[in-house]
Amino acid sequence: MKFFVDTANLKQIEEAQDLGILDGVTTNPSLMAKEGISGVDNVLAHYKAICDLVEGDVSAEVISTDFEGMVREGENLAQIDDKIVVKVPMIKEGIKAIRYFADNGIKTNCTLVFSAGQAIMAAKAGATYLSPFIGRVDDISWDGMELIEQISNIYAIQGFSTEILAASIRNPLHIVKAAEAGADVCTCPLSSILGLLNHPLTDIGLAKFLADHKKSSN
Ligand code: G3P
Repeated sequence: MKFFVDTANLKQIEEAQDLGILDGVTTNPSLMAKEGISGVDNVLAHYKAICDLVEGDVSAEVISTDFEGMVREGENLAQIDDKIVVKVPMIKEGIKAIRYFADNGIKTNCTLVFSAGQAIMAAKAGATYLSPFIGRVDDISWDGMELIEQISNIYAIQGFSTEILAASIRNPLHIVKAAEAGADVCTCPLSSILGLLNHPLTDIGLAKFLADHKKSSN
């Protein structure tokens, strides 16, 4: 399973990259706004800065909701760097845009996915990645992980090549469960990635090893 970090914060991206386990970055308009990035030139420059920091794919989301606007924005974004993946919302015009980008060699990430039916449509349109939002499904008392499993089964049975990118990850357990459920990629806040490292027995064990070493070297 690939690891993407879900942030537009350059420091956090750098920290994830330094760990040596990072395969890419996803952003969205809310994450860009959180970093105070606005205005076309600043937005494009920020995506370029992200691409310069990481080795893998970088998802950059369109704001337009009509086909022509999405194509215009997406082509502009794709010119920034080969790493750019154009993130397109799961709406009728978005499906048309994904098909256009697929036919023109531009990678896409279909976002705001909440059902298996939507997942089938995105795969049929030729999306590179599909982003089901686990945490937001859980928020309304449905099971986000069941959705990942269902899509994973459908894609395997049908031979779809679209990669399942588990998004809206909120904690380390989400990452473990998404891996079990067959996600190809997990995009996570840095805190959830780092949370995978933690175990009290590791801390206790390390403290004992170091204490014993100290005793034996006295
Ligand atoms: O990748 C999508 C993600 O950023 C949404 O996360 O926590 O706002 O549902 P959240």
